[in-house]
Amino acid sequence: MNPDYLSRPSSTKNPIPHADGGGVNGFNRDPYSPRPFEGLEILDVGCGGSILSEPLARLGADVTGIDAVEKNINIARVHAASDPLTSLINYSCTTAEDLVKENKKFDAVISLEVIDHVANPSDFCKSLAALAVPKGAVVMSTINRTMRAYATTIVGAEYILDWLPKGTHEWSKFLTPEELVLILQRASVSVIFMSSFFLE
Ligand SMILES: C[S@@+](CC[C@H](N)C(=O)[O-])C[C@H]1O[C@@H](n2cnc3c(N)ncnc32)[C@H](O)[C@@H]1O
Repeated sequence: MNPDYLSRPSSTKNPIPHADGGGVNGFNRDPYSPRPFEGLEILDVGCGGSILSEPLARLGADVTGIDAVEKNINIARVHAASDPLTSLINYSCTTAEDLVKENKKFDAVISLEVIDHVANPSDFCKSLAALAVPKGAVVMSTINRTMRAYATTIVGAEYILDWLPKGTHEWSKFLTPEELVLILQRASVSVIFMSSFFLE
């Protein structure tokens, strides 16, 4: 199998790579509860305009969303303010690497589609691991470095369909599943679940 994407979380019961080796379902959440994340502190790293932070907050989590770009944080703040369920999200313009210096810890650290934009993936993963409590979860998604991913995410999305600004993605920064596992292991994160999907 050579998926174009890897590690996109598919359900609350199956977070993917996981810090510190404990049971990934150890949060013991009721999947039928309307607010299954009640009481959990979750960090959304590279939250962008809040596509993930808001649903997590609606599911009961105490959410912190961080992004390196101030404009994104401002957009996220304005959007979240319109709903009482999301207005308590704590947004901050900072990087994962800088937040580590503040000694903050979270039950789960989630970072979707960010690692292929950072300068040093290894340091980035170490920061994600450092931001999770012992036996906490680290959940990531990224794009695999395949020709299919080049055709869809760069040629298709950036140059033909104009969905994204040209230059959004650098193919050489995409990681294969094997490379990501190695980087995570070096960051002391035990990878216990991976999944993938294709763009058709
Ligand atoms: C492709 S966007 C993904 C946004 C969102 N996670 C999503 O899936 O829609 C990548 C985001 O990561 C942010 N970013 C890049 N490096 C970062 C870092 N080291 N720490 C925090 N945010 C970062 C960028 O500013 C950008 O908003």
